[in-house]
Amino acid sequence: FLHKLVLGIETSCDDTAAAVVDETGNVLGEAIHSQTEVHLKTGGIVPPVAQQLHRENIQRIVQEALSTSKVSPSELSAIATTVKPGLALSLGVGLSFSLQLVDQLKKPFIPIHHMEAHALTIRLLNKVEFPFLVLLISGGHCLLALVRGVSDFLLLGKSLDIAPGDMLDKVARRLSLVKHPECSTMSGGKAIEHLAKQGHKLHFDFKPPMQRAKNCDFSFTGLQHVIDKIITQKEKEEGIQKGQILSSAAHIAAAVQHTTACHIAKRTHRAILFCKQRDLLPQSKAVLVVSGGVASNLYIRKALEIVTNATQCTLLCPPPRLCTDNGIMIAWNGIERLRAGLGILYNTEGVRYEPK
Ligand code: KG4
Ligand code: ZN
Repeated sequence: FLHKLVLGIETSCDDTAAAVVDETGNVLGEAIHSQTEVHLKTGGIVPPVAQQLHRENIQRIVQEALSTSKVSPSELSAIATTVKPGLALSLGVGLSFSLQLVDQLKKPFIPIHHMEAHALTIRLLNKVEFPFLVLLISGGHCLLALVRGVSDFLLLGKSLDIAPGDMLDKVARRLSLVKHPECSTMSGGKAIEHLAKQGHKLHFDFKPPMQRAKNCDFSFTGLQHVIDKIITQKEKEEGIQKGQILSSAAHIAAAVQHTTACHIAKRTHRAILFCKQRDLLPQSKAVLVVSGGVASNLYIRKALEIVTNATQCTLLCPPPRLCTDNGIMIAWNGIERLRAGLGILYNTEGVRYEPK
């Protein structure tokens, strides 16, 4: 076959996803099953529940991705699956399913690093050359890295505690936004973004974290605790019970979103200056890629745009469906690895399987 075709499988957290992508970046087929609604009800991901839901859905999702692609399994060049990082129980479902398929179809297996996949997704859409800077902000991860090649990352900064999406999810839960008529089916971060439009960002004055730290790391628990206290205080003032929605919820949402955006933009600004000073990035037209679930937040993107405009950088974000977990990015990472001659780690005769 002229074209490489990769089946990608993703189960690292709470989405069961699969896709078939070809060498030129055409998405031939895809399917996804989100567990968000179930986990919203339990107030967070319960790993054994996530595992069970992956088990119930993976066969159907992979089948759907394959059948919509009209690619016969025998035409696949390889199967690529997320092996880390993520919830061990969730990852295990994707891995054992994939290895069975690999055995059955006698195909090479490409183990994928979930964050590498997020970082490279942009290259499926745009002609972005290495090196570029990537900011990954989601519910489970928070990092800034210089991407020098398919598998060559220089970590510049990370969260010292929780990820921004996790913090936004916790604040949303504390505000009981799942009970809000307009936000009941949204993720925490999305609910905050939605509600923030009805509030005033300066109604509360939360200080951006780590203002004096001379590095590119992040921190979000301090902010979360400050907001927790404010909510408790407001609940007393408004005389409402835990679980009811505060009248000031929109102002809190606007302020937390604003402070989060300031923090993320400031740390990213430092990373850009650091790279430029050391000639690790081109002086003009350097590229900043922002991905992960939190990257779909338009207010945070605006803040990042101010930073990239001021530093002659180009800001690129994959579209929302490619910012959150999906099978396409995993399949594409498989293509990138095949093209770079990296990472075929399983063959059914020789049994050579070594996760990176
Ligand atoms: O990338 P993702 O689907 O999964 C991982 O965490 O890896 O990201 C999910 C996270 C959740 O924390 C969710 O609240 C957040 O991304 N998120 C948002 C928005 N949409 C999703 N955060 C802020 N604004 C949004 N519009
Ligand atoms: Zn992710």
